[in-house]
Amino acid sequence: MLLSFHSYKGGTGKTTLVGNLGVLLAMGGKKVCIVDTDVNGPGIHSLFDIKYDMTLIEFLQGRCRAKDIVYKHGDLELYIIPARACEEDLSSFFNTPAEAREKMSGLINILQKDFLMDHILFDCSPGINRSSLLTMNLVDKASIISTVDVQDIRGTYILSGMADKLGTRANLLFNRTPRDKQKEIEDVMEDFSNKLGAILLGSITFDDHVARAWSRKLVMEDDPECDYCRQLKAIAEKLV
Ligand SMILES: Nc1ncnc2c1ncn2[C@@H]1O[C@H](COP(=O)(O)OP(=O)(O)OP(=O)(O)O)[C@@H](O)[C@H]1O
Ligand SMILES: [Mg+2]
Repeated sequence: MLLSFHSYKGGTGKTTLVGNLGVLLAMGGKKVCIVDTDVNGPGIHSLFDIKYDMTLIEFLQGRCRAKDIVYKHGDLELYIIPARACEEDLSSFFNTPAEAREKMSGLINILQKDFLMDHILFDCSPGINRSSLLTMNLVDKASIISTVDVQDIRGTYILSGMADKLGTRANLLFNRTPRDKQKEIEDVMEDFSNKLGAILLGSITFDDHVARAWSRKLVMEDDPECDYCRQLKAIAEKLV
């Protein structure tokens, strides 16, 4: 399955979620690849502590082969394609949107047919931009991760509308929600996703354990029974 993760504002928890979800799915026996498409602010390589040479960028520029950019994580069947930070949008590496689609589809094809990946997870750049929309257009399920901040909620509304135009019904997930207002938040989420026509995946509360990890460790490996992991497992069941 091809899954992408988007947000309107930055810092809603996409990279953390994609990394831990990848670990969870791989621990469940699947062969999983995580692709960092957030070329303006890549983070997956930090989370997995990857010392990379070639990245998604060099592959898209035709400077290396797919096998050069796939890095294995530990003993799991979990593979990472990192990105090198650059100032251009991912889509600027292509002359036309059609070429962008063709090249990214080509990579997906290799990962599925040659590497036999069961799941490919895309960590996308925040905001409304071409590369995020390009990825959204390629996947089976696109998820928008929002906080309950009104700036974020308003942007999520716009992003979800864009997904609709692309013919994708967005999945919606709230992260970093306050623990003490869970019931009220659930009602607001339900109401909001109904209005959007989005599929509500649920929410993950603010977790001190995750916040204090400072992206230096994956809680799904470190403490798989923690609150964050328990909530992520429930979301993964709905998603996959
Ligand atoms: N449920 C949570 N509770 C507490 N902290 C969290 C939670 N989820 C993520 N974080 C923390 O929030 C910070 C931002 O998370 P992350 O880098 O995953 O966001 P992002 O959406 O990928 O950001 P960007 O848009 O900049 O790429 C990190 O320090 C992470 O540990
Ligand atoms: Mg990120």
